[in-house]
Amino acid sequence: MNTEEFLKEIRAPVDEFCRSLDARPPAYSYIPLRSDEERIRVMQSRLFNELRAADLFGTWLKTTPEFDVKAMMAESAHEEMEHAELLSRRIRELGAEPFDYKPLPAQIAMFNAMEGLADTCERVAGFSFAGETVANYLIQMCLKSPEVPEWIKQPYRRITQDEEGHGSVPQEFLKRYASTEERQDRVCRAIAMRMVLFREYLASLDRWAMGKDRW
Ligand SMILES: [Fe+2]
Ligand SMILES: [Fe+2]
Repeated sequence: MNTEEFLKEIRAPVDEFCRSLDARPPAYSYIPLRSDEERIRVMQSRLFNELRAADLFGTWLKTTPEFDVKAMMAESAHEEMEHAELLSRRIRELGAEPFDYKPLPAQIAMFNAMEGLADTCERVAGFSFAGETVANYLIQMCLKSPEVPEWIKQPYRRITQDEEGHGSVPQEFLKRYASTEERQDRVCRAIAMRMVLFREYLASLDRWAMGKDRW
C-alpha cells in the first residue's frame, strides 16, 4: 500500500471513534458534569494521564533509535510534565488534593498496554497518533461547550496550544518509517488496541466521575 493510502486507512477508525463521541460527550470532555466535585475527579484522572504520558515518552527514549522520533519523545515528556503542573495547580486552587486519586483499572490497562509496545511505529501510532487525536478532539469539544466552566477551560487552552503544534508530526513519522507491510500491519493493530482501551477508559470514567460506580 502506498503511504498516502496507508495514512487514509489508519485515520479512518480514529475519526470514526471521535465522531461516535459526538452524540453523548463523555465525562472526559467535562461537558456532562454538573458539579465541581465531579469535575475535579475528571481532572485528577486526566492529571494521571499527563504524568503517565511523560513516563512513557521518557521510558521509550533509550529504545528508540530514530533520531527525529527520539527528539519528539524527549520534548513530549517535558511538555506532558508541564500539562501535569497546570492541572495539579488548578486542582489545588479549587481546594482539592491533585494526587488523591486511584487510577481506574481500564486506565492502568491502557497505559500498561501502550508501554508494552516495542516498535517505534507502534508507539507513535497507538500513543501519539491515535491517543492524542482523540484527546485533542475531546479538548476542542470541551472548549467549545457553554456547559464547561472557565476554570476548566483555562489550563486546556494552554495544553491545546502545545498539542496543535504537533498536529501532523506522528503522521509524518508513520509516513517515513512504516514502510513495510509488516510495520504497517503492526501500526493498524496498535491503533485498534488503543481504540478498544480508550473506549473502556472513557466508559469507566463516565461511571466513576458521575457517581454510578465506586472505585
Ligand atoms: Fe498532555
Ligand atoms: Fe499530549
